[in-house]
Amino acid sequence: MKPWLLARAFAFVTRYDGGSRFRAVARVTPERYGAAMTAPHQPQARMRITAVVNQKGGVGKTTTTINLGGALAEMGARVLLVDLDPQGHLSDALKLPEAGAPAPLGAALLGALPDDPGRIVLPHSITDTGGVVDVVPTAFDMLQVTEQLYQVKAREQRLSRLLARLADRYDHCLIDCPPSLDLLTVNALEASDGAVIPVQLEDSSVKAMRLLLAEVEAVDLDLRPGRPLTLHGMVVSMLERGAEGKPKTVIARSVLASFKQLEAEGLPILAQVPRGIPISEAWRFGQTVSAYAPNSEHAAAFRDVAKVVDAAR
Ligand SMILES: Nc1ncnc2c1ncn2[C@@H]1O[C@H](COP(=O)(O)OP(=O)(O)O)[C@@H](O)[C@H]1O
Ligand SMILES: [Mg+2]
Repeated sequence: MKPWLLARAFAFVTRYDGGSRFRAVARVTPERYGAAMTAPHQPQARMRITAVVNQKGGVGKTTTTINLGGALAEMGARVLLVDLDPQGHLSDALKLPEAGAPAPLGAALLGALPDDPGRIVLPHSITDTGGVVDVVPTAFDMLQVTEQLYQVKAREQRLSRLLARLADRYDHCLIDCPPSLDLLTVNALEASDGAVIPVQLEDSSVKAMRLLLAEVEAVDLDLRPGRPLTLHGMVVSMLERGAEGKPKTVIARSVLASFKQLEAEGLPILAQVPRGIPISEAWRFGQTVSAYAPNSEHAAAFRDVAKVVDAAR
């Protein structure tokens, strides 16, 4: 198991000046946070990039990206979410207009870096704690972009080059990966400082995890010599609870036992998020769960993940 980096020194970073482009953006007020407001985030010396990754579909990647982003923004961080899945679920869930074809993100990945890379970013929400959630939306033709990406030089480094151009505007960037180990996911693994792995308690999840860890290892070896990806840990998604808050089914309990074994080897379980209405309603209303249901246990679970991601250096 890869070592994961611990919090180290941090430096002052200039705060976002709250420019006029956020005028039309949803405001999240302290009243809505109520008592649930968390400790302020640690000022970052540079933008930290986190891939939310698992090649298995429907395991909670998009939900984790949105709500981890919401929890970081609640702490006062400026957060950029990148919708790297051509299906565009993150853009849909946050009620952002899908970018018209050709996808600006795709064009930027294929070579035409815009003069102002901020042009591929849409604002989503701001908080009175100084937090920001911005989004790089996807477009349907990103599927073709993936194919074209195989033809270009430095094909695995395209995303990190693009994000480097946005690095002075944000504290955190979270990448919502597609449900495959394709070139887009490899770009995300190459570009990131760390990864969060959402998992569901299903039989196929253990094998999927083995495959994912092997891919991370391969990317470390080929594309990140001397700077292995920090695996922050797993987020158990859509937990169905039975007696004593334990997973309801025998299968879920046994898969959780396998993941606990992995935890003992150094890959922590950062949170167990119960299946619940606050998550699906927040999605329906285009909000993060920390804004929509700040006092829910779901919001609290993503705060636990945010603390770990924010503390990592
Ligand atoms: N804790 C939860 N409670 C209720 N619904 C959830 C929860 N987590 C995820 N979902 C729903 O499950 C579906 C799949 O999750 P999603 O985050 O889209 O997975 P992925 O991005 O890995 O495909 C989505 O419709 C999402 O709203
Ligand atoms: Mg998704």
